[in-house]
Amino acid sequence: MNHLSYSRRRFLSNSSMGLVAFSSMPGILNAMERMHGMPKVLPNKASPDFKPDVEFDLFCKSGSVSILPGQQTQVQQYSALLKKGPKETITGIPGSYLGPLINLQKGQKVRINLHNKLTESTVTHWHGLHVPANMDGHPMYAIDPGSTLIYEFEVLNRAGMNIYHPHPHEATAKQVYFGLAGALFVRDEEEAALELPAGEFEIPIVIQDRLFDDQNQLVYAGNMHDRMVGFYGDRILVNGRPNFQIDVASRAYRLRILNGSTARIYKLGWDDGTPITVIGVDGGLLEQPETKPYVMLAPGERLDVWADFSGRKEGSQLVMRSLAYSGVLPKMAMRMGGMMRHANTLPVGGDYSIFTVRVAKKVSDSPKLPAQLSKINWHQLGALANPDKPIPIGISESPMTMLLNGRPYTYNDIQDFEHIKLNTIQLLEIFHAHGGSGGHGSENKGAGTGMMSMGHHQGGMSMMQAMRHGGNENKEGGQVRGGGMGMMMAMAHPIHLHGQQFQIVSRTVNADQESDYATVQHGFINSGLKDTVLVMPGEKIRIIKPFQDFKGLFMYHCHNLEHEDMGMMRDFLIE
Ligand code: C2O
Ligand code: CU
Ligand code: CU
Repeated sequence: MNHLSYSRRRFLSNSSMGLVAFSSMPGILNAMERMHGMPKVLPNKASPDFKPDVEFDLFCKSGSVSILPGQQTQVQQYSALLKKGPKETITGIPGSYLGPLINLQKGQKVRINLHNKLTESTVTHWHGLHVPANMDGHPMYAIDPGSTLIYEFEVLNRAGMNIYHPHPHEATAKQVYFGLAGALFVRDEEEAALELPAGEFEIPIVIQDRLFDDQNQLVYAGNMHDRMVGFYGDRILVNGRPNFQIDVASRAYRLRILNGSTARIYKLGWDDGTPITVIGVDGGLLEQPETKPYVMLAPGERLDVWADFSGRKEGSQLVMRSLAYSGVLPKMAMRMGGMMRHANTLPVGGDYSIFTVRVAKKVSDSPKLPAQLSKINWHQLGALANPDKPIPIGISESPMTMLLNGRPYTYNDIQDFEHIKLNTIQLLEIFHAHGGSGGHGSENKGAGTGMMSMGHHQGGMSMMQAMRHGGNENKEGGQVRGGGMGMMMAMAHPIHLHGQQFQIVSRTVNADQESDYATVQHGFINSGLKDTVLVMPGEKIRIIKPFQDFKGLFMYHCHNLEHEDMGMMRDFLIE
């Protein structure tokens, strides 16, 4: 299927031999055209033996929409045109810049014709879906303006909420920010049998934060501070609307929530203290519902919530808020941020409203929450290919570079531990290589791999410079000299892995992070299948992930999209 064949040996190197071998491969136009050697691959064409059940055109284009009162806002957006398949495959969100909802059934064969009507290159990734490597929207498949890329795949996923969004090299955050994103639902029989609230009783909630200028235009800055901590708007939009409100009947609803922000992390909680009933996460339904005082939702994560408004009075209101928490931003950046830009009126970790529910109608009947939701095929520890040697995902942080495993994203830079044997189940460990407690780079063991500590020292230098530029920070210098470097830079990262969903085995946090951690720790759902997991400062998370069915390159990266574009992204090569 893959029109590149990979070998364990690097097939592209800077040697002339490597280049000759590379350029003679079909489909490759110019190996060096893109930054970091990102090759350019001829767009995939429709294959005559693929017989789609569903086919639609998906356009990326610029447009303008009304978001705030007054002038329209220039955006980039997806739109779709169904060519074959059930008409409910594509349902719009009226008036929103967000892409239409895509509704697929497990087992369907789908063809999507992606038309790039932008003035820059783009590619679309199906975040959460398990598709062949050359259908996954890797940046190497980005297409030029005016070009069309054909995706063909079978829906292998169980029921769940997924995301489609751009993934072009170093421009993902910006394109998502200007509006290119949408929700993609997969349905299956297991879910259908539950008869969960559907139709008007199932509501997508895509949460984003945006910054507008006084002409109602989106502002996206890219200064060092924004890149380091991520870009934060000062206004919450839900489904592309400000001050989002839904009118409901006094019965149970299913809220399908997605954090579509580039960087902002939410701590979702009902304003009257009602617990949140979670029935699903990234990879679909949990086995049983979980009740939480609040739920953390980082960029790229999804949440399936059972919200029962039975017994509430007509006219009453309930507000979903982001509640106060601490510890996700670097302590260092919080000081610098204050100097480098006007204080955000929506501080990260503040307490602010996300959307309002108004009970508009009293009804007497409501469905009951099922006690058993689904059956998950858990992978047992005994099935692991590497029970004693987890694959490392080491997070390292400095003001100029956010890295994984000590290296910035580079195409064809697959390290030994990034080669993964097809059809194996692997243990992975995500940890702060330089963050967290103490933060002494030299003390890092790197989980038994050849990880570099160079990035740390370079980072350290630039941070010292940044601090000097930053003004009167010398008082804190003692802390830095005292080895608090890592801790000063440590922040939370939502780590996302392409391909199949994973299960969370363990989370441990350093003792010195416990007071911040206490403000978020009851908001993690570890009982479902995930593709994105929020890693707090000083936290170490072990996951089990299958690498089945498809060979090729599958990315892993931070879903703080500013971090992703800074290079906090790597490839696994499944072979
Ligand atoms: Cu949601 Cu690689 O991305
Ligand atoms: Cu993804
Ligand atoms: Cu990050």
